[in-house]
Amino acid sequence: MEKKDYDFWQHHSVKYLEMAFRTDKQEILESPDGYGKRTGDCGDTIEMFINVCDEHIRSVSFNVNGCINTNACANTVVSLAEGKSIEEAWEITTENVADYLETLPTHETHCAELAVGSLYLALADARESKKAPWKKLYRKK
Ligand code: FES
Repeated sequence: MEKKDYDFWQHHSVKYLEMAFRTDKQEILESPDGYGKRTGDCGDTIEMFINVCDEHIRSVSFNVNGCINTNACANTVVSLAEGKSIEEAWEITTENVADYLETLPTHETHCAELAVGSLYLALADARESKKAPWKKLYRKK
């Protein structure tokens, strides 16, 4: 495809555009119930923060240093995870994220892997924090 034929706004779904430009979930929490940080081979990094109440994910926020696809994927993970039980959140997959966005370029699937991977790390951390709440205070970021 020639460059002049590509129209970003026409090329992407409404869901993709909404998730790519949403900013209200970008927040660094000082003491979340679960924290996950992952850096991809490309150098993009996502930090994911989750708060849990009664085994359900009450809120998710993130900090991202990466491309627009990474931002879209991180926002999608937030949307898919909030309100779910911890068990259900473990079932969120890269494919779920790509399906939701509809127009995530196939060569950017690793952005979805990075977002889902950081969620998994936050879920694992929340499980550890529940067993030993004091560890939260000494968490390395
Ligand atoms: Fe690497 Fe998006 S370009 S995660």
